[in-house]
Amino acid sequence: TGIPSLKTVFASDFPIGAAVGRPQLLAERGQLLAKHFNSVTAGNAMKWDATEPTEGVFTYTDADAIVAFARANAMLVRGHTFVWHNQTPAWVFNDANGQPMTATAANKTLLLARLEAHIRAVGGRYANDVSAWDVVNEVIDENQSDGLRRSTWYAITGLDYIRTAFRVARQVAPNAKLFINDYNTNVAAKRDKLYNLVAQLKAEGVPVDGVGHQQHGNVSWPTGAETDAMIAAFLPLGVEQQITEMDTSIYTSSSESFTTPPADRLASQAARYKAWFDVYRKYKANITSVTLWGLADDETWLDSYPVSRKDFPLLFDVQLQAKPAYWAVIGAASPT
Ligand code: G3I
Repeated sequence: TGIPSLKTVFASDFPIGAAVGRPQLLAERGQLLAKHFNSVTAGNAMKWDATEPTEGVFTYTDADAIVAFARANAMLVRGHTFVWHNQTPAWVFNDANGQPMTATAANKTLLLARLEAHIRAVGGRYANDVSAWDVVNEVIDENQSDGLRRSTWYAITGLDYIRTAFRVARQVAPNAKLFINDYNTNVAAKRDKLYNLVAQLKAEGVPVDGVGHQQHGNVSWPTGAETDAMIAAFLPLGVEQQITEMDTSIYTSSSESFTTPPADRLASQAARYKAWFDVYRKYKANITSVTLWGLADDETWLDSYPVSRKDFPLLFDVQLQAKPAYWAVIGAASPT
């Protein structure tokens, strides 16, 4: 169709990306992806369970397909993610006897060695392709006094898994910007813990280049002002900032369920997207990428979270057609 291309509209602001799997590379979806986006993230294909399901056995089929599509269409690639507490195979956290690790020095050494080997393999393979890596994902828990999530990574290594991940990533992928990525960074209590961690890591010389804001929201949250505060808070650190996983659920409570999105929700969603993009543009000197967590409403993680129901969180609808939110972010009136 003849609608404006998002990547053209935002050409002087920031690259605009979408998280995809292999279905989004094909046919009409692939055309939509290539037309509107100049950055791509693998929604699942570069995670540990996808790339190294068995120790030392690497599977790159889906990740390679996404990278090849990006090359063919001159798109950037965001790498997601080396270290997470989800989608990590059980073997990673088993000790030398195949039992779940306890916090011993030997297990710490083993776990950090596995982490290093994983990052060397995956990061090395895509060293010429990935422009930014989410080196660690969702490591903050604002309810802990030190702000660190009590994952198995933390239980076995303390903060060292984060230090190791960034240092190895820098060695093996020296051209990639290295990010710490998290959600709810628009919540002051959370972002303060993230800020403190990044400040500490930088003071130690750990090579953190940027903060990734996931920005999973809904039709009423967060506001533009909350989004502005989210970006402004990190300016003193002098780091790059990227919006890494944005989407806008049409729901505000778990008890709602629509099979088609009501017009008033789509209008609220459009206003929400507009408010966020206005903030991103205001800070375009600091924001180096904006990525949506999906291509179109036909496939979204929100269909199964927080409950099973159809959601409609993106800029294109289930038929891949532009929604009110699309027209709002490009600053044009929807054709009638
Ligand atoms: O691969 C299996 C497949 O073999 C099986 O047939 C199918 C049946 O359900 O499941 C497939 O695994 C699913 C996987 O996505 C790949 O499609 C998992 O069940 C499903 O839980 C998994 O969900 C992903 C989720 O992360 C896992 O935590 C979502 O697609 C992905 O969008 C989501 O992304 C995360 C970011 O990485 C981090 N930030 C939050 C964001 C949303 O949760």
